[in-house]
Amino acid sequence: MSSSEDFKKAIDAGFNFSGDSILLGTAMYDKTAVEKTPVRLPLSMVNRHGLIAGATGTGKTKTIQHLAESLSAKGVSVLLMDIKGDLSGIARPGTENPKITERIQKIGAEWKPTQVPVELMSISNEKGLRLRATVSEFGPVLLSKILELNENQQGAVTIVFKFCDDHQMPLLDIKDFREALRYVTSEGKAQIKEYGSISPATSGVIMRKLLELEQQGADNFFGEKSFEVNDLLRKDNNGFGYINVIRLCDMQDKPKLFSTFMLCLLAEVYAKFPELGDRAQPKLAIFIDEAHLIFREATKALMDQMETVIKLIRSKGVGVYFCTQIPGDIPDNILSQLGSKFQHAMRAFTAKDRTSIKLVAQNYPETAFYKTESLLTEMGIGEALVAVLDEKGTPAPLAHTLLFPPTTRMDILTPEEQDQIVKSSSIAAAYNEEIDRMSAYEMLTKKISAPASEEEAPSTSKKTVVKEDDGGIDIAGTIKAVSKNPIVKQVVRDFSRGLLGMLFGKSR
Ligand SMILES: Nc1ncnc2c1ncn2[C@@H]1O[C@H](COP(=O)(O)OP(=O)(O)O)[C@@H](O)[C@H]1O
Ligand SMILES: [Mg+2]
Repeated sequence: MSSSEDFKKAIDAGFNFSGDSILLGTAMYDKTAVEKTPVRLPLSMVNRHGLIAGATGTGKTKTIQHLAESLSAKGVSVLLMDIKGDLSGIARPGTENPKITERIQKIGAEWKPTQVPVELMSISNEKGLRLRATVSEFGPVLLSKILELNENQQGAVTIVFKFCDDHQMPLLDIKDFREALRYVTSEGKAQIKEYGSISPATSGVIMRKLLELEQQGADNFFGEKSFEVNDLLRKDNNGFGYINVIRLCDMQDKPKLFSTFMLCLLAEVYAKFPELGDRAQPKLAIFIDEAHLIFREATKALMDQMETVIKLIRSKGVGVYFCTQIPGDIPDNILSQLGSKFQHAMRAFTAKDRTSIKLVAQNYPETAFYKTESLLTEMGIGEALVAVLDEKGTPAPLAHTLLFPPTTRMDILTPEEQDQIVKSSSIAAAYNEEIDRMSAYEMLTKKISAPASEEEAPSTSKKTVVKEDDGGIDIAGTIKAVSKNPIVKQVVRDFSRGLLGMLFGKSR
């Protein structure tokens, strides 16, 4: 083993960056903090994604908190998937305590409480801005993947989308999709002849799978007002990036909905954000706590989509960080794309544990300074084996690191504090308004009567419109009524995105 001086030299040289970076903590040698030997993460490498792993109680969530608040202070926006509900405290400044003081002294850096801007969000009935997406935004390809449909069934879904697109019927929620599917397999059969036909068995399977998704609460998620992902990128007056905390405490038993939501969000971010190139400063960092939930029930097809998105989203300036107990929880093809690793202590209770530890140790670069395998079980709380990329994109020295403590509150918010944040949000009210405007369901169940006036069809529509059909629905008439509404025009335009499947239809 080399001496402590050699160690300090190696770390100082390895983390001597010219560009902006985030201080992660101070390096440790022989399980002792070496003061003022900073371990850093270059900002330009944040979009190379990352992994935060370790046993329960070893400090993973605090690592997320520190990374998130540091990025915010650099003007980078953050999205936190708060599955256990223990991240909300990030919205309030921390208070110094003897443990923090001791840690800071060992690191040899300054600590002061910070106030970061936070938006609370939810995809269910938790407090916060409601995140929703319309079925048409989802598109036939992604919807089929989520429903785990075979090729034939996916064809049927595409027909429903095409039918609704051709007739400018917005598919907003699951109710719309269900009704459209019902319609084209019954009285509207003749109208889809040119695209093909849908057998009762196929439609039955799709209906059943829709029900399954609904039972996990997906009807809360599908609908309007559809979330504009650019709203994630807001900054406050001090130039701090917003930390958007999505409260997902009720997601633990709804893995399908969670993975649906994650994939939809990532796809949307990919579709909307402009290309920045690989070396750009990050725009957004996404942290997914309890990430194994996404993969628990995911099919191969869904995994492939996830892999593709993760690969492509990097050039949009977005970094995705998965947090989980064992790296093995993350599929290999995704794991291999994660540039930064924060490995907290692992527990060696069972034979299986010991196998995972060996495997994890083998995946770290050789180092003269540590015995990685034993270190993995011996690290203290709030310490991690840090393997990040340097500014050139090559691995920085492996560093056992005493991590910087969060400067925001390490405890959770009270319900009153949560209410206060939601109330003071400048965008939450607009998203939380309940809207159920005219869409496929209403149009097909004739809840809306045809308009009296004879206005021109909108210029966005170049499609032939079916007038009266044997089902007796005056689609042309209802479309004119809907098209007066400016939001509808937007949704109609959105159709083409879903249909082309921008990302999912063409990416491979
Ligand atoms: N970087 C840190 N600085 C100070 N205390 C920490 C740090 N990391 C962890 N801790 C302490 O350890 C406890 C557990 O950490 P937590 O992040 O919740 O673990 P995990 O998410 O791995 O279960 C925290 O409540 C805190 O007291
Ligand atoms: Mg945790």
